[in-house]
Formats: sequence, C-alpha cells, structure tokens
Amino acid sequence: MSARLDWLSGAGGPLHGSVAVPGDKSISHRALMLAAIAEGCSRIRGFLEGEDTRATAAVLAQLGVRIEAPTEGERIVHGEGLHGLRGATQPLDCGNAGTGMRLLAGLLAGQSFDSVLVGDASLSKRPMRRVTDPLAQMGARIDSHDGLPPLRLHGGSALRGIRYELPVASAQVKSALLLAGLYAQGTTEILEPHPTRDYTERMLAAFGWPIEFAPGRARLDGGHALRAVDVEVPADFSSAAFFLVAASIVPGSQLRMPGVGLNPRRTGLLQALRLMGADIVVEREREAGGEPVGDLVVRHAPLHGIELPVALVPDMIDEFPVLFIAAAVASGRTVVRGAAELRVKESDRIATMAAGLRALGVRIEETPDGAIVEGGPIGAGTVESLTDHRIAMSFAVAGLRAIGPVRINDCRHVATSFPGFRELANGCGFALRDAS
Ligand code: S3P
Repeated sequence: MSARLDWLSGAGGPLHGSVAVPGDKSISHRALMLAAIAEGCSRIRGFLEGEDTRATAAVLAQLGVRIEAPTEGERIVHGEGLHGLRGATQPLDCGNAGTGMRLLAGLLAGQSFDSVLVGDASLSKRPMRRVTDPLAQMGARIDSHDGLPPLRLHGGSALRGIRYELPVASAQVKSALLLAGLYAQGTTEILEPHPTRDYTERMLAAFGWPIEFAPGRARLDGGHALRAVDVEVPADFSSAAFFLVAASIVPGSQLRMPGVGLNPRRTGLLQALRLMGADIVVEREREAGGEPVGDLVVRHAPLHGIELPVALVPDMIDEFPVLFIAAAVASGRTVVRGAAELRVKESDRIATMAAGLRALGVRIEETPDGAIVEGGPIGAGTVESLTDHRIAMSFAVAGLRAIGPVRINDCRHVATSFPGFRELANGCGFALRDAS
C-alpha cells in the first residue's frame, strides 16, 4: 500500500452527469474463487480492479491458478478443478479484505496442503473465530492468533458437512462454510438469523453445483464439480451509495448511475433514503449475469430523520457510514439500532463516524449497537478515516455540505473498493483534492 494520502473536501455541486461505478466487490471475489476451482476457462467482465479483489487474484495465482487480465475490468481464469490447487510456499496476503480472508479460509480448509492467510494492520484486528469455530466443527484444523489473523490452515483434514445456525447474520461466514462444504462428506446446511447476500449460492448454481437455497438458508452436498462459466459483474451498489447520498443532499443535483446491482440483500439504503424523503428512481430494470440490475437516477430532495427499521440493517450493512452523513444533513433525528456488527468492520464504524461527525460539530450519540444523530449544519474540521475506505468516502460526501473544508486523514484505502473515486467524484461536481 502506497504512502499516506489526505484529502480536502469542499463545498461542491450541484452534481450532474452519469457516474460509471466500478464492479461489485463481493461478486468479483467470488467469481475469482469459483472460477479457480472450476473445470475450464471462465471469463469475468466488470471485475473490480480494487486492491481487495486483486489481492484475492494474487493469492489464487500463488496457489497455481493462471489468471489473465486482457483488459482493465476483465479476467480470464484457467480453472484447476476442485482438487487442482497447489500449496504455496509463502503466506497468502489478503491485504485489507475480510471477504477475501474469510472465504479463502473456507476454500482452503479442505485442501491437502497447508496454507497461511495474512492481512494488513486493519484485517489483522478482525475477528476470525466466526469462521474458524464452525470450520473446526467440520473437521478443519486452523490455528489463529487468539481468534485473529494470521490463520494457519493444516492440510489433509477430512471435512464433514454440518448443520450450522449462524449466531450473527454474515454472508462471509455463510460463504466460507459453503465453500468448505464443497470438499466435505455429506450435507452442509446453513441457517441465518436474517437473510444475507446470496451471491455464493447463486454463483455456485451458475457454475453447475447442485444447491438448494432460499432467503435465510442454504444447503449443499460435497463431491460434485464446478464447470467454468462467464461472469458479468454489475456495478457495486455500495459504491453507488456515496453518489446517492451526495446528490440527495446537494441542491440542484441530478445523477445517473448505469448498470448497478440491485440484489435485494444489498439495497437497504435505497429504502432507508426513500423513507427519509429521497428522490431515487430505478430505470431500465433488467437481469444481467443472473443478478437484478438497473440504472439509478437520483435528484436532490430535502431529507428528514427516521427511526431506521431494524429489518433493513443486514441489507445495508456497508452503507452506514454514508447513511450517517445523510442523517447529519437531514432535518430532525435519525435513530439506528441493531447494527452492532458495524463495530467489527474495517474500523469500528460507529465510533469512527461518531468521532468524525463530532469533529464537524454534528450532534451524535453512540449506543452499543447504533447511534442517534441530530441533523443540522456541518462545520469545517479534520476527521480520521482510520484507514477505512468507506469512512473516507463518506466524509468526502459530507464536505459537499460543510460550511468550510473537511480534511480527511489517510484515504489510501479508498483504492481497496473504489479506485478512481476521486476522479469520478470531481467529474460530477465534487471539490475533492489532496490536502498536502
Ligand atoms: C460481504 C459481506 C458483508 C460485508 C462485506 C462483504 C461479502 O460482511 O460487510 O463488505 O462479500 O460476503 P459480513 O457478511 O461479515 O457482514
């Protein structure tokens, strides 16, 4: 990761134009992994050229998978088959990516060789017992550093399917167990407390693996094979989210974002913003690569505070940093509950957002599982991203409506999920520049 990068975000707008949001991070990770263990050659289009997904590609290359990048946003993966991966001599570096590490833990738990998964400073603080405990129940042998990375996976363990009720709603954990289940004897069945994104299930089916799934549950047997397919990755709703809030809060704005993934397990923010009074229309709704997609058209509208329905939380789990910015600009109070998972993301997103908003003069009260935000003016000031990409981009949005410039410290990690964010943002009317 390159040297430190601080940004200054100033009052900008109105925002206009069409924003080509990059490919979905969750789908890009999964497409690489399934293509790597499929039989034959898969072409991935719309691949996210982010540091997280490139780290996963590099790990798979270390495991002996040939991956070509003919053009930007495209990968050709020469699948090695279910049992064709080869052990690496060096640790496998997942960078900043929780999705990369947790899914790879599942994929590698049933291999014949040992692996070591490592990550950067932020990933090295993220809880891994949520995957290592159920994988151990399946027969995997994994050592961690007191529940934290690095993860040492011992090869040659015979895995058996389990029925597992997830204690927290987590697509990462569900996916890790399903990937391990491909190598297990018998049936792996996962039950979720709330339905989470089902990309792994949909993609396993597309690659020809028999799987039963419905919201909140998934079930498969080991011992089949994956057949290569081409994958079309839609634009990432979580990246579009920054522009949805930005155009909503800057008077006179209108933005269009074509081809955004609209899987209902991802679009909770759309509903939340509409409850707050936002003007967002979905046009040209269609299906691409087995996923619902559409063009999002957002116009400025006055927002008001809401009590966020708790049922929406899992469907917008990555969107809370930018929701807090919408809440800070809205009239009245916004209450978020049931979102304790935010505390174990790339940073503690409740604490990091509360500290940043307070530094800008916004009244926000932290609770163990959420926050209460009083809308009002946003002041100038300095905020810390704590190397969390979504915190950095959220405060870039806040700067649009701040009374003076907002300095955002340490924005390097934006490239993990949204390379080119600053250029796209400035192209439609942001005023975002280097602070140095
Ligand atoms: C992801 C699942 C979510 C999300 C993350 C990506 C995935 O994490 O926050 O950015 O691709 O499965 P959890 O499932 O742990 O909540």
